[in-house]
Amino acid sequence: MSEVLLEVDHLTKRFGGVTAVDECSFTVNEGSITALIGPNGSGKTTAFNMITGYLKADSGQIHFRGNTIARPRPADLYRRGLSRTFQQARIFPELSVEENLVVAAGYSWRQLFGRRVSATDKELARQMLAEFRLEPLLELPASDLSYGQRKLLEFAAVLMSNPKLVLLDEPTAGVNPVMIDAMERHIRERNAAGVTFLIVEHDMQLVMRLCDPVIVLDQGAPIAFGTPAEVQSNPKVLEAYLGG
Ligand SMILES: Nc1ncnc2c1ncn2[C@@H]1O[C@H](COP(=O)(O)OP(=O)(O)OP(=O)(O)O)[C@@H](O)[C@H]1O
Ligand SMILES: [Mg+2]
Repeated sequence: MSEVLLEVDHLTKRFGGVTAVDECSFTVNEGSITALIGPNGSGKTTAFNMITGYLKADSGQIHFRGNTIARPRPADLYRRGLSRTFQQARIFPELSVEENLVVAAGYSWRQLFGRRVSATDKELARQMLAEFRLEPLLELPASDLSYGQRKLLEFAAVLMSNPKLVLLDEPTAGVNPVMIDAMERHIRERNAAGVTFLIVEHDMQLVMRLCDPVIVLDQGAPIAFGTPAEVQSNPKVLEAYLGG
């Protein structure tokens, strides 16, 4: 039996009259690549924002590695092994590709520009760049990267913290097929090395290939949970997508 790594317990968020996330409960098991899917506006990003401390929940609780996270804060969670990417990749466009990774390892800009970065972390950044085939670009400002390359860089940066759990919000949206393959390969490799993933993804073929289990949200609450095949044949899921 695998252990529960993340537990979301009756999480709720309202925006005015809209209940974006509604008494939402689910778990993510250690070692899994769990998908969180659902129609546009079903609350996936809002759930991510609460789990990772970017948005305060109206009610509900989050448990990570057996501890209740009373006040989720992004930097604390990052140190505790929970990190994420964004639907629109967040990188530092004015820093170089390599500097983006070094900053992600926990250095301040002052340390970075004072060149007080340890040789080990610099080496780690180089290895990550090689793994992601971004090495030829390491000196370029990140603003020169293509959309797909930015997403890869953001993912590589997140891995610099040696996370236990990574939340990816639409890692392949707007990315070309070659980059989708690269992203998929990196997720698989990191998962094999012990990283757990919770992934919001609209590409159903990718979800079916990569993820198990799959959680389906509709109007802020889970309506199905199971293997890709199970949720795919669930009438409630079909209705949620078609009823849109
Ligand atoms: N900051 C906000 N202020 C007001 N309403 C918001 C805010 N963020 C999200 N919402 C609303 O909450 C609901 C859930 O939005 P959310 O972005 O979480 O959905 P999503 O499942 O990530 O959708 P998508 O697949 O399009 O990314 C939507 O009705 C959205 O309009
Ligand atoms: Mg979203």
